[in-house]
Amino acid sequence: LSAERIQRHLERATPQEGASFRILNACAETISTAVENLRTLVDEFSTLARFPAAKPQAADINSIVEGTLAMFNGRLDSIRVRTFLSPDLPKVMADSEAIKRVLANLVDNAAEAMQASLVREIQISTSLVVSRDAVEVTVADTGHGVTQELKERLFLPYFSTKKRGTGLGLSIVSRIIEDHHGSIRIEENEPVGTRFVVELPLASKMTEIPAATPHA
Ligand SMILES: Nc1ncnc2c1ncn2[C@@H]1O[C@H](COP(=O)(O)OP(=O)(O)OP(=O)(O)O)[C@@H](O)[C@H]1O
Ligand SMILES: [Mg+2]
Repeated sequence: LSAERIQRHLERATPQEGASFRILNACAETISTAVENLRTLVDEFSTLARFPAAKPQAADINSIVEGTLAMFNGRLDSIRVRTFLSPDLPKVMADSEAIKRVLANLVDNAAEAMQASLVREIQISTSLVVSRDAVEVTVADTGHGVTQELKERLFLPYFSTKKRGTGLGLSIVSRIIEDHHGSIRIEENEPVGTRFVVELPLASKMTEIPAATPHA
């Protein structure tokens, strides 16, 4: 990277001019950071563009939740993770890998929202919603919560309040949920934090699943 070469060069040279040395060095650093951010963004973007459409099939939601948490192995060490998985749930229509990605994104966000919290707890629960032939998966945290104003923008691509965030996490989530003909909503958690509720249709009530169209 040219910016890094500038920096190396500056470090080697005997600085004649203290001020311009500092300015050049700061500029090179800004460029490096900007490029690094851009690289992350491009990586995430190409992942999003390349995403195969989800292929939902009859699946056990509790195993998907457990599979997701297994992926984190050790990364949630400072957080208390509690699961409330309703037993004997009927199968849902889900592409396991895609739904794992959804839940992993929600858990990542939950963990990040609790960095400054004294109580750090993530609760994941599953339950049947008989009236809608669906199963609900809830991911709740005790983090800083979301203001009413932000709520409307969270799912927009590139919307992020984080220094290092791409803002693509929740747009990937919405895309996958759409492919599943499901829904996602955001609620306030009691007494503090945020709760994301994902709803997926039951497998048994669905006679035919329309093939998801590939994304351009
Ligand atoms: N559980 C949560 N509690 C509070 N705010 C949240 C939560 N989940 C998401 N948000 C807010 O929504 C924004 C968008 O989330 P999204 O996952 O799309 O992007 P991101 O997390 O900022 O970036 P990335 O996913 O690339 O790390 C976040 O920046 C944050 O402000
Ligand atoms: Mg995120």
